[in-house]
Amino acid sequence: MSRQILVTSALPYANGSIHLGHLVEYIQTDIWVRFQKMRGHDCRYMCADDTHGTAIMLRAEKEGVTPETLIGRVWDEHTRDFAGFNIGFDHYYSTHSDENRELASKIYLRLREAGLIEVKTIAQLYDPVKNLFLPDRFIKGECPKCGAADQYGDNCEVCGATYSPTELKNPVSAVSGTTPVHKDSEHYFFKLGDCEAFLREWTKSGALQDEAANKMQEWFASGLNNWDISRDAPYFGFEIPDAPGKYFYVWLDAPVGYMASFAKYAADNGLDFDAWWGADSKTELVHFIGKDILYFHALFWPAMLKFSGHRLPTAVYAHGFLTVNGQKMSKSRGTFITAESYLAQKLNPEWLRYYYAAKLNGSMEDIDLNLDDFVARVNSDLVGKFINIASRTAGFIHKNFDGKLADGVANLELIADFQAAANTIAAHYEARDYSRALREIMALADRANQYVADEKPWELAKKPEAVYRLHEVCTVALNCFRLLTLYLKPVLPKLAGEVEAFLNIPSLAWEDAQSLFIRHRINAYNHLMTRIDPKSIEAMVDANKQNLEPTPAPAPVRHAEAQVHAAQPATVPVADTISIDDFAKIDLRIARIANAEHVEGADKLLRLTLDVGELGTRQVFAGIKSAYAPEALVGRLTVVVANLAPRKMKFGMSEGMVLAASGEAPGLFILSPDSGAQPGMKVK
Ligand code: 2FM
Ligand code: ZN
Repeated sequence: MSRQILVTSALPYANGSIHLGHLVEYIQTDIWVRFQKMRGHDCRYMCADDTHGTAIMLRAEKEGVTPETLIGRVWDEHTRDFAGFNIGFDHYYSTHSDENRELASKIYLRLREAGLIEVKTIAQLYDPVKNLFLPDRFIKGECPKCGAADQYGDNCEVCGATYSPTELKNPVSAVSGTTPVHKDSEHYFFKLGDCEAFLREWTKSGALQDEAANKMQEWFASGLNNWDISRDAPYFGFEIPDAPGKYFYVWLDAPVGYMASFAKYAADNGLDFDAWWGADSKTELVHFIGKDILYFHALFWPAMLKFSGHRLPTAVYAHGFLTVNGQKMSKSRGTFITAESYLAQKLNPEWLRYYYAAKLNGSMEDIDLNLDDFVARVNSDLVGKFINIASRTAGFIHKNFDGKLADGVANLELIADFQAAANTIAAHYEARDYSRALREIMALADRANQYVADEKPWELAKKPEAVYRLHEVCTVALNCFRLLTLYLKPVLPKLAGEVEAFLNIPSLAWEDAQSLFIRHRINAYNHLMTRIDPKSIEAMVDANKQNLEPTPAPAPVRHAEAQVHAAQPATVPVADTISIDDFAKIDLRIARIANAEHVEGADKLLRLTLDVGELGTRQVFAGIKSAYAPEALVGRLTVVVANLAPRKMKFGMSEGMVLAASGEAPGLFILSPDSGAQPGMKVK
């Protein structure tokens, strides 16, 4: 029976590029969707850019463009990158859309009617320079538990403690460098605690992987907190109905973006929205996500759907993170690889699709992209085993039989075995156990190669009396090749399309596995896939290598407000050459050295007190003791990097960096502006 399935991947933030870590999920989902379509199901793949929040607002401001312009540009980049990897969304939208505004508001109002919204005044850290409430990830300070310096406002990377940003010691705003103040404001909360009974029931519905269901039990045990769904202006997002100046937190309208993407698609394609999203919907709703955002999809989202009168997810499938060569992706090692840079090296996207598929097994385990193994595996499986079958047999069909396959084959055993594998392979795809599916398929490819090696068509071709045998052997081999293509098609859609053109057949569907491929004229064989040249992998890694100085980078902006995709490091790139936008991220200011003094126990450092005009007073430790007597510096103007994340040094916090020149020749020279410059002025 044909199923109706709405499938989603998590909506990527519109403030960063798509990289190989993201692609695990889109490739995983796309394979599943293509498989369902081949099975004849009515499957629709929805996605969108996740466009709201403080991070995007601030980035647009820095670039001197409106958030709308920024998200428009990123949408173009994201859709280009996804298309480059043959991700076949049926609709790719944006959360900044009318449909999303309407649906988010409607859901909110229904939750309010259900008594699930409460308003409470809370104190939060506020940047008095930027006039902005600071999201957790825009605040740095010392961990309240272990005292480690330079920790974000939500958790400590040293001891793992989680806390609220108001608990941080010596907090500093990563936006302006000022010390934030506590400020009260009214916030809107979704009463998740009241949904516990429903959520406990839902956990048993079979929608979650076992690992995820276990995680839910832990969350229930530690208690469900009500969820703060509002943010104060200025905020790039949707204003909350009846609450001027209050905006939906980005994570409230993000999953609604799944619905909104479908709403637009349904309107354009004559589908009935309610049949897919109404409480009584008979369709399936399947979300693919990373394990770091399970909380949002297994708790908030089903509760929002339930109590706003919508259908519930049929399945939430979480995958693990990507490591490259066994480690976190790293900009300095060149393994933080963007989709764009992969494609720029002319690497075939289907190589990566194949490799990821070979690693994915439907669990939440992390997967590793080992670059040497990647080359070896793709070359051996795809070129050495799969393509080899056609390249060793197709030529004879052309040369000796005018491009026509035999009218029948006497020995059907091998083909029958290939056909019989269709159900097992389908079951593995259905269960997202692509690695097992590919193992089955490659075992079949081994058998086909063995058959060709045993029959030796190149020798049969030399014997006129063996002409029928030659015809049959090549026809059997090409039957095997066609079936392998069919089984690999969810993973390798482009290559499968090229094989279909070569075999001169219509688009392969799963049921075609049961038909025989005879009495048919094929086209001339042109080579279908090249081997990976390891040099191009090296070139890609080199192109992604960035010269990261050991100094702390400015505050990250990826996932600024949400839980992070923890496998992806959240640093801002410092490239060999930088764009004007990169340069604009550095907040250089004129500072007056109000005081300078020796630091007891330090050989090289002077403690400077800087007057940075509107940014206030800063303490900076500068390694310039060898060149300057402290008293010679007092009153001088210089240039300071004002948005460098504060560093805890042995002698105290250093809240910026004074610029000084040094080189081969001895000497150290701090930079000074011409006279007339005033403390606090921007240096551009
Ligand atoms: O973690 C992220 O990258 C989020 N932008 C995912 C949002 S998924 C959905 F809920 F919209
Ligand atoms: Zn700590």
